[in-house]
Amino acid sequence: MGRSAGIALPKGKMGVLTVGMGAVATTFMAGVDLIRRKKSSPIGSLTQMGTIRLGKRTEGRAPAIKDFVPLATLEDLVFGGWDIFPVSAYEAAKNAAVLSSEHLAEVKNTLSRIRPMKAAFDQNYVKKLSGTHVKKGRTKYDLAVQIRDDIQKFQKKKKLSRTIVIWCGSTEIFLKPHAVHETPESLVAAMKENHPAIAPSMLYAWAAITSGVPFANGAPNLTVDIPAMVALAKQHRVPICGKDFKTGQTLMKTILAPGFKARLLGMDGWFSTNILGNRDGEVLDDPESFKTKEESKLGVLEYILQPKLYPDLYGHIHHKVRINYYPPRGDNKEGWDNIDIFGWLGYPMQIKVDFLCRDSILAAPIVLDLILFLDLAKRAGMRGIQEWLSFYFKSPMCAPELYPEHDLFIQLMKLKNTLRWMMGEDLITHLGQEYYD
Ligand SMILES: NC(=O)c1ccc[n+]([C@@H]2O[C@H](COP(=O)([O-])OP(=O)(O)OC[C@H]3O[C@@H](n4cnc5c(N)ncnc54)[C@H](O)[C@@H]3O)[C@@H](O)[C@H]2O)c1
Repeated sequence: MGRSAGIALPKGKMGVLTVGMGAVATTFMAGVDLIRRKKSSPIGSLTQMGTIRLGKRTEGRAPAIKDFVPLATLEDLVFGGWDIFPVSAYEAAKNAAVLSSEHLAEVKNTLSRIRPMKAAFDQNYVKKLSGTHVKKGRTKYDLAVQIRDDIQKFQKKKKLSRTIVIWCGSTEIFLKPHAVHETPESLVAAMKENHPAIAPSMLYAWAAITSGVPFANGAPNLTVDIPAMVALAKQHRVPICGKDFKTGQTLMKTILAPGFKARLLGMDGWFSTNILGNRDGEVLDDPESFKTKEESKLGVLEYILQPKLYPDLYGHIHHKVRINYYPPRGDNKEGWDNIDIFGWLGYPMQIKVDFLCRDSILAAPIVLDLILFLDLAKRAGMRGIQEWLSFYFKSPMCAPELYPEHDLFIQLMKLKNTLRWMMGEDLITHLGQEYYD
């Protein structure tokens, strides 16, 4: 049964608040501005360029996704956010050095007007940064309440009908789930006593969810991936998703690994190394932030290859991931992969991948799709973890009794079937027996 009747139409303006106005957030905002003014096209965005097949293959129905589900339009979006540096989104985009000077000149007017609100920040959680544009408060709870006020004021000032908050901030240090993360009550009590298990990103997530505002987490931090936040999201009828945008090297991994597995090619090892020189790379140069990222990147192969089910093929894989901060490359990362596979009778083979990618160019369309799909989910009455958005994440959140699905192609099928289900269309199983009866 579908739910099309239940989806409220997108009326009025929608706020998009990014926590962190760095390379990813400003490349996203600049891109939307350029696309709105027909100066460029939304390449890489499923909501803007994707189509969806409906019904049987013989029916020839394949509308654009944005014509099929009631999404907010790019014209509806109003940007804001927080950062620990007081510079405008234009200055931040210039510093990030992702976009050409021609593109920067085009977006100067729009981005110069977007100024960050003061951040909730604590250097204990991002060792490599220190900022001046930060909130003051006696407890972490006080800071969270200030963020909630920020959201309310932004909504009022910009006359918005709804808002989404998305974490595009730096990667915080590795935190293990703690007893204080268990329930909404223990979470608030911990915020009030400045407990070290409460990272700044959790204050934003708490403020958004308790304001009825959907929250997406683009970094590998724990943030909303704790039972207390999931419970709050259900209580407040808010969709949430995370963690860690799936771009560059991990995207390649989740494209290639399902192929090897499908053809039952064995694997001895996968060595991945990167050089990048943006601020994200600098933050990840700190071992504690890198640990968070490493955990996020390492899980992927384990879940795709299922070594317990296929011990002869995948039982002894050496999987290594390295990130090296190398300033000359800026945002233009280079990622090398060496994959040792084996085939028929155990004969070894090697595959080398050298991906000269652009991190924020790959991340920006993900930000756009996530905010539009989260808003759709909210209007469709969906709440809690949105596993159908796993497509966009390196460490997809899922129910505690499940394992995350990492295979990009299964993730895409799940996403599109969710859209069909929302709109009351038949799900597509790819069985197709009826064509031969
Ligand atoms: N670009 C990609 O391909 C990609 C992929 C996956 C994940 N990510 C993650 O997305 C995040 C953003 O990446 P980026 O390249 O834009 O990094 P960036 O360093 O350019 O931007 C992050 C911004 O967040 C700000 N910040 C840090 N802590 C904050 C806080 N508590 N409150 C408000 N602002 C805060 C920083 O000052 C900085 O301006 C990083 O965590 C990164 O790991 C990026």
